Amino acid sequence: MNETIKLQHAHHSIRSYRDDNVSDEMLDAIIRAAWHAPTSMNAQEISLVVVRDAEKRAHIAELAGGQAWIKQAPVFITIVMDFNKTDMGVRKAGQTQVIHESMEGFGVAAVDAGIMLGNLMIAARSLGLGVVPIGGIRRNPQSMIDLLELPTLTFPMVGICIGHIENDAPLKPRMDIATFRHDERYDASAYRTAIDAYDTDIMAYWQGLKRTDGITWSQNLGNNLKQVYFPQVRPVAAMQGLTNDK
Ligand SMILES: Cc1cc2nc3c(=O)[nH]c(=O)nc-3n(C[C@H](O)[C@H](O)[C@H](O)COP(=O)(O)O)c2cc1C
Repeated sequence: MNETIKLQHAHHSIRSYRDDNVSDEMLDAIIRAAWHAPTSMNAQEISLVVVRDAEKRAHIAELAGGQAWIKQAPVFITIVMDFNKTDMGVRKAGQTQVIHESMEGFGVAAVDAGIMLGNLMIAARSLGLGVVPIGGIRRNPQSMIDLLELPTLTFPMVGICIGHIENDAPLKPRMDIATFRHDERYDASAYRTAIDAYDTDIMAYWQGLKRTDGITWSQNLGNNLKQVYFPQVRPVAAMQGLTNDK
């Protein structure tokens, strides 16, 4: 197996960082790894906002629901849906942009933001750094917009903490690969058994970490997915002009 695939197979999130900085050289290389990523129609409708300022990171940690690792890690990058950039190109061509009002537009930008996140993660981890993605910035999207001075037609999709690892973490088990890989056609017949087995595996994982607050995968999803856990996304996106109604 080559080094890239070994790195991908060893993915695990880090939530404990040393406070020494990430060098400019490393950060540039990580950002360029995402900059080279493909985007749908080459729209390049993603921008990154890099925050190194400690006070701003502390603020983001609070906005994200009190996530201490955002304050701890020296670099926080917000991946921004940027239909403001594309709008300038569309206007230059004498047209009126509509895609930012559509589900297609939101979906495409979410996919491209995910590709950026993946590239940032792999690049940072290949340099020996730790990472954790942060969807929690969508808990208070308006405050993130204000903090980062994001204009209309933009939205903070997801963030990532990057830094030198203080305490490493073990790999979190995944559900049986039969629930993930479907050959030739979709087949959910293995799901129920695999979910039962995974709930047991996850409890063993928490016990291994001596985490008494650990709950099963099913319970965790039950707690979270029974509601729209970040209800501000839709109204704030609409206020940004991303109406998602076409
Ligand atoms: C899009 C996305 C958003 C996430 N948001 C958060 C977050 O806000 N806070 C956090 O601590 N972890 C967050 N995570 C990390 C997941 O909880 C983690 O990837 C998952 O539990 C699997 O663990 P692992 O990454 O260690 O394998 C996020 C992951 C993804 C992909």
